[in-house]
Amino acid sequence: MVVDDLPGAFTAEVVAAFAKRPGEEFDIALSGGETARACYERLAADSAQAIDWLVVNFFWGDERCVAPDDPDSNELLGRQALLEKVGAANAVYPMRCEDGVDAYQLRIGEVGHLDVVHLGLGSDGHTASLFPGSAALEADPGQLVSFNEDPTGRNQHPRMTLTYAGIARARLVIFTVAGEAKRPALEAVCAGEDLPAARVQAGRVLWLVDRDAAPRNHAGLPR
Ligand code: 6PG
Repeated sequence: MVVDDLPGAFTAEVVAAFAKRPGEEFDIALSGGETARACYERLAADSAQAIDWLVVNFFWGDERCVAPDDPDSNELLGRQALLEKVGAANAVYPMRCEDGVDAYQLRIGEVGHLDVVHLGLGSDGHTASLFPGSAALEADPGQLVSFNEDPTGRNQHPRMTLTYAGIARARLVIFTVAGEAKRPALEAVCAGEDLPAARVQAGRVLWLVDRDAAPRNHAGLPR
């Protein structure tokens, strides 16, 4: 849906998803990117009464293979924008490239279903670290996590990422897309072009889009 307040709409959806799991642990996979940062800062600020962070397990949907204190680290973004503000969580599972994918594959496999996977959209149509023409797009169905990289080099660093099978473990995928620069990619997704973001499947896939990124074509947002 097209929203005026994207971080607010994101926060409302996460709170609503949390409320559906009373008394259960809540598993959320964080994204990287500046849209995500704004969403997490608002979530941290507005959810104190609605979310018991002590039952929340944090994962990541993708990570750059850099040190955890590197400015490009998605873990650092998540910690600064959210985790450090909400206090103790039940568990935090950062992706660590040096540990290989098997450890994270096992962790995601043990969880079964993730309650929320948060995804962004790149102007090239990528999501998480699933880039156009990249190897991880064709990962085996049993592979939930993969190393990957952008064959064009436009998106820096080797990556670790959930695959489509890993993302499909989500009860709810929330895409957040902001800014006019993303409109062409979003319009292409809406028009059915085979971009990485268009292939995402899960229990429910929700698109939250601000007015600047909203498609002008007739296709409307993906259902
Ligand atoms: C990454 C992100 C990536 C991001 C999009 C949107 O590690 O780069 O996971 O998929 O979500 O590129 O990023 P912006 O919100 O900064 O445009």
